Amino acid sequence: MHIRKLTPEEQHPIALLLLADPSLKLIEEYIARGECFVAEEEGSIIGEYVLLPTRPDTIEIVNIAVAEHSQGKGIGRELVNDAIRRSREWGYKTIEIGTANSSVGQLLLYQKCGFRIVGVDKDFFIRHYEEKIYENGIQVIDMVRLSQDL
Ligand code: ACO
Ligand code: ACO
Repeated sequence: MHIRKLTPEEQHPIALLLLADPSLKLIEEYIARGECFVAEEEGSIIGEYVLLPTRPDTIEIVNIAVAEHSQGKGIGRELVNDAIRRSREWGYKTIEIGTANSSVGQLLLYQKCGFRIVGVDKDFFIRHYEEKIYENGIQVIDMVRLSQDL
């Protein structure tokens, strides 16, 4: 498995982006402004993340996903660590990530990679998504915000 930048000629791996974010409209907005990196194994793309500069010195992982058949093998952790290393090399001072109140595994993963919880964007998923979303048996309502100094 290796991680590389998506080239300008390539299509974004939309099916993977939709695993992390059900809103195609929001995805299209941030992929136009951010940089997408992909994990490739034997010629197929099995993971991705998108980095988006948000404020001076601050960058955010706005989307990260691993193909379902490849989850649970450490690829997500490698992608998060790659995003952290790249953002540090680019000179950013802070990296951020946000996930749903219901995303227990994601919250563990991000904290294992050094992120700390810094806040809650209450009702984020009510304000930005038209359909009600459910995960792990509860409604997705709030966004948990995490951050790490680089
Ligand atoms: N339950 C418990 N722990 C979990 C879970 C889970 N469901 N998922 C990940 N973890 C934790 C584990 O503790 C694991 O640590 P360990 O190796 O010490 O046991 C750690 O995360 C790393 O696991 P990986 O195997 O590297 O994770 P994976 O390759 O499956 O990728 C990811 C994780 C990206 C969240 C993947 O499951 C996925 O694509 N999910 C669907 C899309 C998604 O939810 N994306 C994130 C949305 S938020 C955003 O995009 C900003
Ligand atoms: N992972 C995922 N979900 C869990 C877990 C877990 N480890 N533990 C409980 N849940 C969720 C499940 O989603 C379950 O819902 P479901 O039936 O829809 O799947 C729900 O919790 C209820 O589970 P119960 O079986 O009723 O919970 P249990 O009898 O195990 O009691 C408790 C939970 C009290 C947290 C118990 O595990 C415990 O005593 N843990 C050690 C002490 C502790 O941590 N106490 C809380 C500290 S905070 C405080 O005291 C204020």
